[in-house]
Amino acid sequence: MYTYADYEAAAEAIVSAAGGSRRTALVLGSGMGALFKGSGRVTAYSEIPNFPRPTAPMHRGELIVTDNAYIMCGRFHRYEGYTSEQTAFYVRALYLAGVRQIILTNAAGAVNPAFSPGDIALISDHINLSGENPLIGENEERFGERFFDMSEAYSPELRAAAAECARECGIELKEGVYFYMSGPSYETPAEIRAAAALGGDLVGMSTVFECITARHCGMKVLGISCVTNMACGVAGASVSAAEVEETAGAAGGRLRCMLEKLIERI
Ligand code: HPA
Repeated sequence: MYTYADYEAAAEAIVSAAGGSRRTALVLGSGMGALFKGSGRVTAYSEIPNFPRPTAPMHRGELIVTDNAYIMCGRFHRYEGYTSEQTAFYVRALYLAGVRQIILTNAAGAVNPAFSPGDIALISDHINLSGENPLIGENEERFGERFFDMSEAYSPELRAAAAECARECGIELKEGVYFYMSGPSYETPAEIRAAAALGGDLVGMSTVFECITARHCGMKVLGISCVTNMACGVAGASVSAAEVEETAGAAGGRLRCMLEKLIERI
């Protein structure tokens, strides 16, 4: 359990590293960590009090500060052994550092057979049947109310802005529901059939705890998935981490075009 002071200490370090606060944060998912290399001042997560250390491959653990955004290169996952609260620690730290809109990117498998590896998809909603929620426990009123609405968890306004930027970059954007699985094992074909039956289009191991935490404190959230593979069993697919990394890397140029425009516009 973190105290409010833990979040404040992290926020203070972030603002001081940045020389001021930013309203927008961008979180880079698996295989996208190098996307904004060289675009701003770098601070290692290890220099920010109370930040966990990313242990996942492809997650660098660096904060890049640009003129108009904090860019998080590397995030934390439940499968690393962190609690759901720890995976979202940075979201509250960013909130106290001034962030009011957060773009969460990730690599995801396609449950929906109409999607293909290399596609970029907006997250319209999510399904979290993990039984976990980062906000279980005493409520911290300074962040938000005990019970809060999730009917528009992924901001329609930010999605519209993202769609416009994607069009300008020549990206044919997909949109779908993100189904959370803890990993680290990829899913079985039966699990993917279940996810499809329940309304999932994409499957992945991140994003939902951060989204919940961000909505609690009233941030606008945008979720963007890079489809790196067909989910297990879809069209007979199997999944490998190498394929995930390679496909996310290959989509990097298009994604960067869209994200740069978006950060400037919102
Ligand atoms: N399943 C879960 N997480 C993922 C996948 C997948 O198929 N691809 C990328 N992240």
